[in-house]
Amino acid sequence: MAKLYKKIVLTGACGSLGMEIRATLADLCDELLSVDIADAPTELLPNETFAQADCAVLDQVLPLMENANIAVHFASIPDERPFDELLGPNFLSSYNVWEAGHRHGVQRVIYASSVHAVGMVENAAGADLDVDHAPDTFYGLAKCFSEDLGKLYWAKRGMESVHLRIFSCTKVPQNVRALRTWLSFDDLRHLIERSVTATTTGFTVVWGVSANDRAPVNNAKAAFLGYHPKDNAENWAESLFAAAAPADPSDRAQLCIGGPFATIPLGESGVAAIQAMTETTQDETPTTREPAQTEPSGQKLPSFLTKKSMNP
Ligand SMILES: NC(=O)c1ccc[n+]([C@@H]2O[C@H](COP(=O)([O-])OP(=O)(O)OC[C@H]3O[C@@H](n4cnc5c(N)ncnc54)[C@H](O)[C@@H]3O)[C@@H](O)[C@H]2O)c1
Repeated sequence: MAKLYKKIVLTGACGSLGMEIRATLADLCDELLSVDIADAPTELLPNETFAQADCAVLDQVLPLMENANIAVHFASIPDERPFDELLGPNFLSSYNVWEAGHRHGVQRVIYASSVHAVGMVENAAGADLDVDHAPDTFYGLAKCFSEDLGKLYWAKRGMESVHLRIFSCTKVPQNVRALRTWLSFDDLRHLIERSVTATTTGFTVVWGVSANDRAPVNNAKAAFLGYHPKDNAENWAESLFAAAAPADPSDRAQLCIGGPFATIPLGESGVAAIQAMTETTQDETPTTREPAQTEPSGQKLPSFLTKKSMNP
């Protein structure tokens, strides 16, 4: 059967998320060109080719986009660093993908944005998709820059883009925060499939989060994409609460949608801060129960840790 597209380019293909979506993308096109600065995956899919390239260098990105219909841009450093360390991989790479895509007539870019584009927004606000940019780090600032690139190239050059504001994409939820923020791999693949196959998208932003009872955001304005997540972090609530330290309701890392990224000094790793607060159970078996209203010590939790999802 004819595939939907001739060629899709995936950057960051060797990363943890890139590896999860290669097969989904390969199913949608005749040729998947996987790109990374790292060495090729050990095995390629039958219709997949690989190019080692630095996306921060325009001359290396330009030839990749030849005859491509869709670019899926996942290459970046996925953490906070000093600005000059992010400038190439996180800022310039985005410009190069959009510019090279434009020169070669790429129809749409699917971009791995992040919650950290709006990380200083407070959870209780129930963030809508048109909430103003409020980056919590230089990393988040690069996501804002790339989202605005998408908006600019749509307005001036008619190039579509879908910006996936991914929260915490892991095999299973890693900590109590992930009860709100988890995106399962299956739901990521579904979101990618919807973003690639949607007839028209213009410039679109969508929250990359599973159907968590406690998700602090609302995807109603991107409903036309047909993204219907199925997984729910609540199924891990019991084991995650059992492993968690008591929540401090006055901690901005608890209050802000960006979590610990909202309180770390600029340039310092947010991932390390998340790992420090993560009492990972490594338990991959969900334990379904009613959402906890108090954590085990009996202390009342902040409202955003107890309220039900505002997702439609
Ligand atoms: N994992 C998450 O939960 C999460 C959350 C929000 C956003 N994101 C975004 O999703 C994307 C993928 O994240 P990940 O967790 O797979 O990260 P990762 O570090 O596992 O993968 C990123 C990949 O990009 C490649 N890369 C880095 N710089 C490059 C360059 N200059 N040229 C070409 N390739 C380059 C790396 O070699 C790596 O394989 C990133 O843009 C990240 O910011 C991830």
